[in-house]
Amino acid sequence: MVRGGRPLYGTAQVPAAKNSVLPLLAASLLCGGPVRLRGVPRLSDVEGCMALLRGVGCAAAWDGGDVVVAGRAACCRLPAEETARMRASVLFAAPLLGRLGRAETALPGGCNIGARPVDWHLGALERMGARVEQAGDRLILTAPAGLRGACIRLPGPSVGATETVLLAGCAAHGPTRLQGAAREPEIVDLARFLNACGGCVRGAGSAEIVIEGGRPLHGAAFAPMPDRICASTLACAAASARGWVTVAGCAPGLYAPVLDALEAAGCQVLRGTDSATVGCAGRLRGVGRLVTGGYPGLATDAAPLVAAALLTAAGQTVVEDRVFEARFGCAEGFAAMGARVRTGAAGRELWLPGDGRPLHGAAVEAGDLRGGAALVVAALAARGQSRIAGCGYIDRGYPALEAMLARLGARIRREMPPGPAD
Ligand code: UD1
Repeated sequence: MVRGGRPLYGTAQVPAAKNSVLPLLAASLLCGGPVRLRGVPRLSDVEGCMALLRGVGCAAAWDGGDVVVAGRAACCRLPAEETARMRASVLFAAPLLGRLGRAETALPGGCNIGARPVDWHLGALERMGARVEQAGDRLILTAPAGLRGACIRLPGPSVGATETVLLAGCAAHGPTRLQGAAREPEIVDLARFLNACGGCVRGAGSAEIVIEGGRPLHGAAFAPMPDRICASTLACAAASARGWVTVAGCAPGLYAPVLDALEAAGCQVLRGTDSATVGCAGRLRGVGRLVTGGYPGLATDAAPLVAAALLTAAGQTVVEDRVFEARFGCAEGFAAMGARVRTGAAGRELWLPGDGRPLHGAAVEAGDLRGGAALVVAALAARGQSRIAGCGYIDRGYPALEAMLARLGARIRREMPPGPAD
């Protein structure tokens, strides 16, 4: 429940990145000793990945704010329910295959932002010697003689497929050269972790990555990088609600396109080394066309959040997502709050009204993680009360978003206790 119209003031600390923690949990399957991930946010997707680890015989437990993973995987079958629910489950296949010569999993399936196939993951593993069998939505991968290093070119810069190759490459015999890799900072974080465990990954963050396989990995204690999408959410919340918010613990360069867009819209943005302050008092203006892309471009995950912040701006903004085909499911909720938004280009574009009209509170429903957070960002600017259903989606990626915003002065509360994702 959000009662909008109150500006936000104060400092919010950015938690560790979900999109780093999930692949790190998968990578811990490769390690011969215990792994401690420091300062992990309590997210339903993190719990889901811990359940996957337990399902294959590892111990995975919270120790205060840390997650500790210990023991070796003994079983090659990933629990079906968690696997199908979470797309990140596909990242657990390569390490299992590398360690046990076999991985049984379920296709993660599509989700509300688009089809999200895993063919590039599977194609890369096949090139590394895996046999892939599919029976319905069951997937059986085998490599009885182990994985072998290979030269791989990805058809597109997929974050997940790049991570799969990093994980498989560390477990494989011989070197792997990956071309056309995604360059997201979470991939750099994964490479840093693998190297801290004794692996040898070079070039992460560029389009070509080389992995020396076959080195036994030991455990390590590791602090995952900050969540640049959560930082983007807080910055957009400050722009939407107005006020003056310091987003702490995340280098502004990690989400520069978001801060640049807010600045172009008329917000004041002060960039520090490890924090950014976003101030917003008057009316915002439209910023023209924003287009998402791989890092260092505007993150697809941030697209609905920036759109939400600019719903009441005067002057046109069009946000185009080139990564997923159905990124703007939140448009219906924006419209329910009175924003005259339009989608175009078969759902890949969101045209904001640019009429400067205020929003009003409404009952809306989250249909996906970032779209759900975008509805919260919009509701902060709306007059009156908004009710956002489907918060299970938001809990997949934010550790109590409502508490984070309430600490900044937002009138926001949760009606139902957090539960499993809807
Ligand atoms: C990751 C992020 C997600 C983010 C996305 C893009 C995690 C846990 N999730 O998702 O938050 O929105 O990157 O930055 O890190 N594709 C294929 N075949 C494949 C793999 C990908 O066609 O086998 C396509 C996808 O459909 C999509 C594009 O490649 O159009 C990019 O997807 P990808 O980068 O793989 O996204 P994820 O890794 O799933």
